[in-house]
Amino acid sequence: MSTSSVYMPLRATSLPKSYLHLSLRGCIGVVATAGLRPSSPWLVSRINQQNTKRFISSTQQTQAKEFFPPPKAPHIKEVETAWLHPVYTQEQMYHVTVAHRETKDWADWIALGTVRLLRWGMDLLTGYRHPTPGREHEVQFQMNEKKWLTRFIFLESVAGVPGMVGGMLRHLRSLRRLKRDNGWIETLLEEAYNERMHLLTFLKLAEPGWFMRLMVLGAQGVFFNGFFISYLISPRICHRFVGYLEEEAVITYTRAIQDIERGTLPKWTNMDAPEIAIQYWKMPEDQRTMKDLLMYVRADEAKHREVNHTLGNLNQEADPNPYSVKYKDPSKPHPGKGIVNLKATGWERDEVI
Ligand SMILES: [Fe+2]
Ligand SMILES: [Fe+2]
Repeated sequence: MSTSSVYMPLRATSLPKSYLHLSLRGCIGVVATAGLRPSSPWLVSRINQQNTKRFISSTQQTQAKEFFPPPKAPHIKEVETAWLHPVYTQEQMYHVTVAHRETKDWADWIALGTVRLLRWGMDLLTGYRHPTPGREHEVQFQMNEKKWLTRFIFLESVAGVPGMVGGMLRHLRSLRRLKRDNGWIETLLEEAYNERMHLLTFLKLAEPGWFMRLMVLGAQGVFFNGFFISYLISPRICHRFVGYLEEEAVITYTRAIQDIERGTLPKWTNMDAPEIAIQYWKMPEDQRTMKDLLMYVRADEAKHREVNHTLGNLNQEADPNPYSVKYKDPSKPHPGKGIVNLKATGWERDEVI
């Protein structure tokens, strides 16, 4: 657990000295991760199965109780989605990097400032401390599997809100004004679906307890209403805000991937991704480890970063969505659904137009 940063003295002289201080950050971190049960039957069964059978072909898996098992409907084979995920290559995913779009006006500053404030709150709630370069190995910055899952689940439960709110408001505006939307709604709703798939994937690895559920509930209540009102006032700032939020998501997943590579997350070293993830990302047979899973999720976050910074540059009323149009000259590089090697296409930044 992280070391103390805020101290609250207690009047209890009979207690040993070490009990006389409570760490606010430490306490919240303890409660946050205590609200998570990564030793759920699925995970226990997964760890026990390591080095014996692959998840996808295991018969033991069916004996373990799942956090959200498939519906009991014997006549149904599977539930289909309208949004099939584009296939990412390993090379494309390795090209994803941490990036930052510089602020250019006061609206960008509002967006970035709000993200920084939220990031501070989320770090506090999930017991996360981001190390300054060179201090990654110090004990107060160390993360474990449980802490990462707490952060992922909380992050993803919030990340699924903006796309749904933006898509909903643009849908209603189209109905209200009797006008076309120019292709924005589908991209925004697909982003919300993608974020929910991230959440469902991580929920296969840990079952949240009451405190985590309470945090998610409270965060959604505040964030949904805040974003709803903000999007009515300035959708452009909202897309810029999401762009900066996704920059943070890429940082989070990059650090978790580095932890796996360094060997500081031993439970994840040889663990396979859950079946739901294998199906959704169409993960190849030799690319189904936890590290691969985080690479896929990070690539999605980088795509959201690009899409939202791009949408934040557009005229919200008039411009068509560049991600859902057909271009007259397909030989030139254009925005699209999959990951594009930005350097190869000559685009220098995440924002493509
Ligand atoms: Fe996500
Ligand atoms: Fe995202």
